[in-house]
Amino acid sequence: MSQPRYFIKTYGCQMNERDSEIMAGQLDMLGYQPALTDRDADLIVINTCAVRGSAEEHAFGYIGQLRQLKDKNPSLTLAVAGCMAQEPGTIAWLTKHAPQVDLVFGTHNLHQLPELLEKAQDSDEMVIDVWKSAGDVVEHLPSHRKDGVKAFVNIIYGCDKFCTYCIVPFTRGKERSREIEPIVDEVKALALEGFQDITVLGQNVNSYGHDLEPKRDLADLLVELERIDGVRWLRYTTSHPRDFSQHLIDVIGASNKITHHVHLPVQAGSNPILKRMNRKYTKESYLDLIDRVKEKIPDASLTTDIIVGFPGETEADFEETLDLVRRVRYDAAFTFIYSPREKTPAARWEGRDPVPNPVKKDRLNRLMELQYQISWEANQALIGKEELVLVEGVSKKNDRVWACRTHANKVVLIDRDPGQDLLDRFVPVRITGAKTFYLSGVQAGEPVSDAVPRRRLELPMV
Ligand code: 5AD
Ligand code: SF4
Repeated sequence: MSQPRYFIKTYGCQMNERDSEIMAGQLDMLGYQPALTDRDADLIVINTCAVRGSAEEHAFGYIGQLRQLKDKNPSLTLAVAGCMAQEPGTIAWLTKHAPQVDLVFGTHNLHQLPELLEKAQDSDEMVIDVWKSAGDVVEHLPSHRKDGVKAFVNIIYGCDKFCTYCIVPFTRGKERSREIEPIVDEVKALALEGFQDITVLGQNVNSYGHDLEPKRDLADLLVELERIDGVRWLRYTTSHPRDFSQHLIDVIGASNKITHHVHLPVQAGSNPILKRMNRKYTKESYLDLIDRVKEKIPDASLTTDIIVGFPGETEADFEETLDLVRRVRYDAAFTFIYSPREKTPAARWEGRDPVPNPVKKDRLNRLMELQYQISWEANQALIGKEELVLVEGVSKKNDRVWACRTHANKVVLIDRDPGQDLLDRFVPVRITGAKTFYLSGVQAGEPVSDAVPRRRLELPMV
């Protein structure tokens, strides 16, 4: 009999991508093979995101479409996982509208996938197994990582911050740090396999280690990880400005491995809004933090996340956000319209004091216009500079061009000589052109890294 095939559809953040790699690893162990598309699969896992309504709508739409595939192939197994599965509203919707789904499991028990799958395949009913809270951190799970030289490594799960707009503390549970030793072992093993661009992950990596005995912190961990031979770039995501310590800034500034890309989600520039968001910093203390970052890491590339249209946000509040963006001059910002999330305090306020939709959209547009201008200017300032880039692949739009990334995650396009395979190599380039969203450049020297054998199959994830 031919091997069964799986397809994992992943929505949302890098934490979800990492979870999908772990699910894929477990399925490999069960003898499954990756399928190239969902139509070729015997098992489809939908790894969902609940952070905004739009992500949920996409997942609901996709689950709805899968009904046709299931009608054509009744032996197809459909599983829904991820943050949406932790929400009672999703379970109610699935039981009512999606009888084609065989299995629902959550973020806290994805290590049980093999047994849950067996149960679902033996049952005529939808199997729903969602844990309300997290158990202990589970180590040594198999994993099927993406091809290439980039790897994600979890260091802390969950979030205790309870920002009033955010669903994550409900879907991902309390903060739980991994011990330093298994993280170091994992990164050493990855480096030996040829992974050179390592990103340590958590909903809030700056809380890392506060729950360990003895206490550790992110700076301690990064110092240990940068000692590992073979690691060229070390990244961390995502950060909370409140716990971004001076020690961490000093460690990053002094390091030539920890990338000087500093992502510091500010969310808003108005103090009353920040207070109601429960962010526990003010515009002034955030700007002071940015000054300290710029002082110790002069070439820092700063990026942020911003929400517009939080309940009760006035025009004056929004102007404070614009003012903050003008002062910080971020390289890029991820901008979102506030989306009410079930169970969160802000969702109740949205019922009483919403910002009208056209106003939300207008604010988003004004914010993006300002940020795009700043991004363009920041990119122009890089013309003539030399940067080390990682060659990530052939450009989708033009096969005579390589798409590369700088340490700050900026895209650089360089001409491709078909006789030279630069894939997954680190190459010095000189920046020759700049647009809002990407740079162009020319190769300015030989690759600094060895070619890495591409051993693994592309993951069947979108
Ligand atoms: N509405 C809009 N954006 C949100 N984010 C988190 N929750 C919401 C919400 N309810 C944004 C924040 C966060 C990013 C990952 O998503 O900006 O930093
Ligand atoms: Fe959500 Fe705030 Fe936790 Fe980030 S820090 S995951 S925004 S609650």
